[in-house]
Amino acid sequence: MNAPVGVFDSGVGGLTVAREIMRQLPEESMIYFGDTARVPYGTKSKETILRYSRQIVNFLLSKGVKAIVIACNTASALALAELQKDYIIPIIGMVQPGAVAAMHATKNKNIGIIGTNATIKSGQYGMYLRKLDPSVTVVTKACPLFVPLVEEGLIEDRITEDMVSRYLGEFRQYDIDSLILGCTHYPLLINPIQRFMGDQVTLVNPAFEVAKSLKQLLKEQEISADQDHIAKYEYYVSDMADQFLTFADRVLPCKVDRVQLVDIEQY
Ligand code: DGL
Repeated sequence: MNAPVGVFDSGVGGLTVAREIMRQLPEESMIYFGDTARVPYGTKSKETILRYSRQIVNFLLSKGVKAIVIACNTASALALAELQKDYIIPIIGMVQPGAVAAMHATKNKNIGIIGTNATIKSGQYGMYLRKLDPSVTVVTKACPLFVPLVEEGLIEDRITEDMVSRYLGEFRQYDIDSLILGCTHYPLLINPIQRFMGDQVTLVNPAFEVAKSLKQLLKEQEISADQDHIAKYEYYVSDMADQFLTFADRVLPCKVDRVQLVDIEQY
């Protein structure tokens, strides 16, 4: 089935997930929606995130998608369960695949998790990890300022190094051997975070496992695209297409030449 997969995020960060889907499923077409008018989700309530997510799912359905990936950790943590109840289309999020990836990575079962305030407060990553192995020890930390640092392109910068040591310093007292990058923006900070944490800590990017789960899901539902299908990508945002294009240029393996504006409140 050559219909597109819908992928959405609160903004541009989900492009790190789209990139992984493009790599692992090159034959799948994709419709990406970034809610650039209403980002960040990480500081908002569950009710608001759920309302936004429903509107986006309705929009993606109007585009004829066959499955949906919530490429936003915050929306996955707060809205996935309700969306799966409300819609019959298959929907997957970041948290469960991220927890699976961390369980593969850890040896001593001491796992760190970083994310937005809302994701950390939801406790969802810890819940899935304990479901997989009740003996796991979980240490969490919200790192809200990482998102604007990435959006400003301050990847290798003194300010970012300062923030990394401030946020992650307390992980040093726990013997964690893996750290879940539980926010779409954080994989772009992989270098400064790895330098600070040291090589003994594996950084877990849920995006890789999400793309794997999507592949599996499409196969199980018998809705994968044909092997020789030429994928097409469409990008939609709720505001500010310029910033989206700059970020897309940094993240995606292919050039984005068109981004379309959507009035998402209509859906
Ligand atoms: N995309 C969000 C996430 O992965 C980060 C940005 C936001 O707060 O909306 O949690």
